Amino acid sequence: MQLLEIQSSVRQDRSVSRTLVSKFIYQWQLFHPEAQHQLRDLGQQPPALITAEWVAANQTPAQDQTETTKALLAESDALIAELFECDRIVIGVPMYNFGIPAHLKAYFDNVIRVGHTVGYNRDTATFKGLLTEKQALIISSRTGSYAPETPAATMDFCVPYLQFLLNFLGIQHVDYVEVPYQGMGGKIQQQATETAIARLMELAEVW
Ligand SMILES: Cc1cc2nc3c(=O)[nH]c(=O)nc-3n(C[C@H](O)[C@H](O)[C@H](O)COP(=O)(O)O)c2cc1C
Repeated sequence: MQLLEIQSSVRQDRSVSRTLVSKFIYQWQLFHPEAQHQLRDLGQQPPALITAEWVAANQTPAQDQTETTKALLAESDALIAELFECDRIVIGVPMYNFGIPAHLKAYFDNVIRVGHTVGYNRDTATFKGLLTEKQALIISSRTGSYAPETPAATMDFCVPYLQFLLNFLGIQHVDYVEVPYQGMGGKIQQQATETAIARLMELAEVW
């Protein structure tokens, strides 16, 4: 069993998403002591933004790849290999301006590649995610509360989008724990954090 931890907060010390992801993984490892653990820290080490040259390299057939195009795709290839190797993915994601952090978007631009992580059927014009047999957990911190089934959920372009991207890649089993009211202070923040931690501890036993 291989667990990939993806962190996307730009904060290190005071990051709620980092803290809760770490708590979850610590607890989960008690039930899976044999599991390998790999960290992909996008907040600290963002992937390169894709460029016109990158897109052209990505569209170049395998037999026509050169040292230059291979070098342009090397980081993306490594990120994709890391994804294929893992069985479980835990993603810490703060909401930034109602969406995902730019570093995490850059990551998906690097790993969503037709012919590598997504298959395309020309006859039916349909895509099929190739990252099957995996499951993911999203832990998302935010100052508001955008819980599914509430009116505010329509303002959450972070987690529904992330869930869609994971599904598009072929990862159908996606769990989600919201950590709302971060930065509000007081009892409301404390209770929300405790509720999220309790849910994560329960999930760690069965995940
Ligand atoms: C640039 C930026 C944009 C933010 N935008 C939102 C937002 O749109 N909605 C929200 O509820 N919180 C927003 N927040 C608050 C963060 O989601 C919240 O502080 C969260 O705890 C950050 O995650 P972290 O503690 O892991 O760094 C924003 C914070 C930053 C730094």
